[in-house]
Amino acid sequence: MSDNPRPFEPLRDLQTLVSLSKQRGFVFQSSEIYGGLNSCWDYGPLGANFKWNVKQAWWKAMTRRPDIVGLDAAILMHPLVWKASGHVDGFSDPLVDCRDCKNRFRQDTALVDGEVVCPKCGSKNITEPRDFNLMFETYMGPVKDEAGIVYLRPETAQGIFVNFENVRVSQRKKLPFGIAQIGKSFRNEITPGNFTFRTREFEQMEMQFFVKPGTDDQWFETWKETRWQFYRNIGMNEKKLRYKEHGPTELAHYAKAAFDVQYEFPMGWQELEGVHNRTDFDLSRHQEFSKKKLEYFDEQSKEKFIPYVIETAVGCDRLCLALLCDAYRDEEISKEDGSTDRRIVMGFKPEFSPYKVAILPLSKKDPLLEMADKIYQDLIPHMEVEYDESQSIGKRYRRQDEIGTPLCVTVDFDSLEDESVTVRHRDTMAQDRVNVSQLFNYINEKLVNF
Ligand code: GAP
Repeated sequence: MSDNPRPFEPLRDLQTLVSLSKQRGFVFQSSEIYGGLNSCWDYGPLGANFKWNVKQAWWKAMTRRPDIVGLDAAILMHPLVWKASGHVDGFSDPLVDCRDCKNRFRQDTALVDGEVVCPKCGSKNITEPRDFNLMFETYMGPVKDEAGIVYLRPETAQGIFVNFENVRVSQRKKLPFGIAQIGKSFRNEITPGNFTFRTREFEQMEMQFFVKPGTDDQWFETWKETRWQFYRNIGMNEKKLRYKEHGPTELAHYAKAAFDVQYEFPMGWQELEGVHNRTDFDLSRHQEFSKKKLEYFDEQSKEKFIPYVIETAVGCDRLCLALLCDAYRDEEISKEDGSTDRRIVMGFKPEFSPYKVAILPLSKKDPLLEMADKIYQDLIPHMEVEYDESQSIGKRYRRQDEIGTPLCVTVDFDSLEDESVTVRHRDTMAQDRVNVSQLFNYINEKLVNF
């Protein structure tokens, strides 16, 4: 986030962000007019722009290099994929029921001195645990029977593994190379919550990097560093980021080593991204289940082997949430008469701001509207621009601060005479007078050097 010149309070609780998101149009509860659907959220007009910008930043960081290509695989996949990946047998949580109040909960979250106690009513009259698979099932075709069961993918990674050969051959790729993908995943989470942090439908941004066995440890370190650099580049507060290693009991069934990038959300340090050494687990299993060779022939060493995979996996919604938390500032402003005021600012880096510029005619009088509209029409092919002619100019500035718009362009009566407009900067609140003929260049320069 950009440096800030005045004292401010950061975000202290998620509820403040939930309210702002609804009020300003970042995120709404799904199906709200029907009372909402638990753990599902819709991105509003600003949220949709913002999320798109976040995806763009990740996509560019991943695919604008010679050794990574993109993919967009289907959500529904052959059911054997999930048998091979281990998700049918192993992707589950142990659930128990309270016989007294009928509450159902995860056994491992309700242990008191080694005994399971119902977190709702305190009873110890609890059923034996049963494994509850987190994959959503649906049916393909008109008949709802066992043979038609397919799953909504719980991770995007498998779409990459099963396309390894297709991508390698069609793109003439040699190891090491990676495949990147952004897409929806679904998990029937037992304890979703904390706004968009843990939901049952979410988007993942995953990259699988295929390497020669023996070089995997080095590549694992390289990707740990590269991902840290990504978070620096997108302007996140480094004090709120850390790496946490998975202990032997925390490692997923496929992983040799795993580190989480954690972010300090208002509810504490939580996983943002996982960097995993998945070894040759996935490709070996797909080779076994599909009976198709997924080996790689290394022309230099004349060896045949199944590549190892270093994976970087971040939730897009979770990164959006972290960026929203990071951007929020409740600032104190000193006024000219010595008194103080406050304003809320979403201090996004301009590349993430839903709108880069707001055009604000000072009055609704015709010649001003005409000039403002002309400026809007000139800028809109090049960037996201908002046009707002309602309320007082002070309130409009505050609204733009709250949605993180870096620059506001005010068209006033003098503009009609001198062909110039006032450009107000979100962070410094400084104002510049700029000739309309120079405006496009001025804006571009300021956005790059914000
Ligand atoms: N392919 C590996 C994989 O899926 P994961 O740690 O289960 O690994 C990767 O998920 C990332 O996806 C997490 O770090 C998190 O950012 C995001 N994620 C996972 N489950 C999520 C959920 N229920 N809601 C939102 N994001 C989730």
